[in-house]
Amino acid sequence: MSNETATARAAMPTVANPILERRTVENSNRNVLKYLKPGLTVLDVGCGSGAITRGIAERVGPQGRVLGIDPGEKLIAAAQQHTVGLPQLSFQQADLYTFETTERFDLVTCARVLQWLNRPEEALVRMKEWVKPGGFLAVLDYNHEKVEWLPEPPDAMRTFYDAFLRWRQEAGFDNAIADHLAALFERNGLAEVTAELQFESSRKGEPGFATASRIWSEVAEIRGPQLVQDGYVSEEDRLRAIAEYDQWVATTGESMQLYLLAVEGKRVEEKTGLLRPSLGRSKPE
Ligand SMILES: C[S@@+](CC[C@H](N)C(=O)[O-])C[C@H]1O[C@@H](n2cnc3c(N)ncnc32)[C@H](O)[C@@H]1O
Repeated sequence: MSNETATARAAMPTVANPILERRTVENSNRNVLKYLKPGLTVLDVGCGSGAITRGIAERVGPQGRVLGIDPGEKLIAAAQQHTVGLPQLSFQQADLYTFETTERFDLVTCARVLQWLNRPEEALVRMKEWVKPGGFLAVLDYNHEKVEWLPEPPDAMRTFYDAFLRWRQEAGFDNAIADHLAALFERNGLAEVTAELQFESSRKGEPGFATASRIWSEVAEIRGPQLVQDGYVSEEDRLRAIAEYDQWVATTGESMQLYLLAVEGKRVEEKTGLLRPSLGRSKPE
C-alpha cells in the first residue's frame, strides 16, 4: 500500500485520547530514566500529547532542553499545555520524515511510534542524525503478536484484534517491530546496542487492572472507526468486541500483558576518512 495509506492509518484520531495522557515517563518510558540528569538535551519523536515529554523535562531541569515533535495538530495543541512552568520544554508540529533541524541532542527518544511507520529504517536513520556523537538513541516499541491474555479474550475481541493486526500489516506496519529493532540499530551503525524487555502487565486485584486491560476496548473505540471505514470489521462487530471484552475485564479476565522492548544505542563519532595527515596542504584546484 502507498505512503498515503500508511500516513492516514498512522494519524491519531482527533477524539480525546485518554491512553496517551495516562502515561508518564516513570510508568511508560522508564528505559530513559537512567539518562535523565540536569542539563541534558532531549528530542522526543512522536511525543503525542506530551505527557511523557513533560516528565522528561522536569528531570532535566531548567538548564536542560526538551523538544517534542508530532505531526498531530490537536496533539501538539494539547501538549503545549504541559509547558506551563517549564521553560526548558517546547513542542513543534512536525513529521519525522520531513523534520529539519541543525540541533543535535544528548538523547533522542521515540516511544510507540515506529509501530505506526511503513518505513521504520528510514525513520531510524533520520533519528540517528539528530543524536550528538556520544549521545544515545532510545526506541521503545511493541511486538503486537506477543500480547498475552489469561484466559483468552472473547471471540468478538479476538476477531477485532486479528483485523486490527491485518489492517496495520496491510498498511506496511511491522506488528513485530520490537523484535526487529536491534538488527536495525546495528545495521545503521549504532554502537553498544542493548535490548531490554519492558512488559506492560496488569493483573486482577491490582489497582490499575480494569483501566490497563481495557486498552483493547479503547483501541476499538478510538481506532476502530478507521477499521470500519476501511472495511476490515463491521460496526456491529466493533461494538460487540467492546461490549464482550468489557464483560471479560469485569468478570473472568485474570491478566493482560503487552510485549515491548526498549532498544538503545550510542552514536559514535564517524570517521570522515578525508584527511590524511601525511598529505599536508592540498593545492587548490
Ligand atoms: C501511540 S502514540 C505514542 C505517543 C507517545 N510517544 C507515547 O509513548 O505515549 C504514536 C504517536 O506517533 C505519532 N506519529 C505517527 N506518525 C509519525 C511521524 N511520521 N512522525 C512523527 N510522529 C508520528 C502519532 O501522531 C502519535 O502521537
